[in-house]
Amino acid sequence: MTQVFIIGGAGHVGLRLSKLLSDKGHTVHALYRQSGQETLIRQQGAEPVNGSLTELDTTTLATHLTGSKVVVFTAGAGGKGGQEMTNAVDGEGLKTAVAAAQQAGVSRFLLVSAFPEALRGQAVSDTFENYMRVKKMADVELAQSELDWVILRPGTLRDDPGTGLVRAGLAIPYGEVPRDDVAATLAEIIEQPDISRTIIELTAGKVPVRDALLKMAVR
Ligand SMILES: NC(=O)c1ccc[n+]([C@@H]2O[C@H](COP(=O)([O-])OP(=O)(O)OC[C@H]3O[C@@H](n4cnc5c(N)ncnc54)[C@H](OP(=O)(O)O)[C@@H]3O)[C@@H](O)[C@H]2O)c1
Repeated sequence: MTQVFIIGGAGHVGLRLSKLLSDKGHTVHALYRQSGQETLIRQQGAEPVNGSLTELDTTTLATHLTGSKVVVFTAGAGGKGGQEMTNAVDGEGLKTAVAAAQQAGVSRFLLVSAFPEALRGQAVSDTFENYMRVKKMADVELAQSELDWVILRPGTLRDDPGTGLVRAGLAIPYGEVPRDDVAATLAEIIEQPDISRTIIELTAGKVPVRDALLKMAVR
């Protein structure tokens, strides 16, 4: 069984992932920042760890990560706090997490990023343009690290129930995907260590998650 640390552990994807992993017998620690979220995290079978990416330094975060085999970064400012907060959480927060994982000796690092074609062709705000730029630079930061990384780029996230059926690949057409299926995909990547140093685009589709990911193994 694997010890997993989820950054963004009280988020919609993070909570779903905690439940899936703990149900499968994995040990999960989940970073949260708001009082009250620890109960929700415990209800998903995970151990809550308090801290904010805008305040944690590398060494403190590394202390929290020590002992885990995999870090999942699914944190994001979600447009709250404007561009400054997106830069601090999705950008600088990711950098701190990558450095902390290296310091703690946690080699495997999964990042929930964004689909490059998201909202293409639509009028988008400066905040969204900045969000996409920061997400791409976070991908760059992780991809040039020495870590055993996987970048997952889901399409637009939906809250309707997952189907367990996805389309996953190095390059696929843009679409939507239920958060349930994003969490299921992350759980499957964790259980398939041969998926390494690759970018996976993800939408709803017709292939069971496990089968869709078996063809992504590169080792
Ligand atoms: N929405 C989309 O269509 C879409 C598409 C592709 C990718 N994504 C990405 O998918 C990821 C997960 O999405 P989601 O729906 O699970 O988002 P979410 O529910 O907003 O979860 C993000 C989590 O990050 C946490 N966070 C924010 N600032 C933090 C900080 N300073 N320190 C620690 N944690 C912090 C939030 O904490 P609080 O609970 O305290 O706010 C929240 O729990 C995000 O990175 C998002 O950018 C989204």
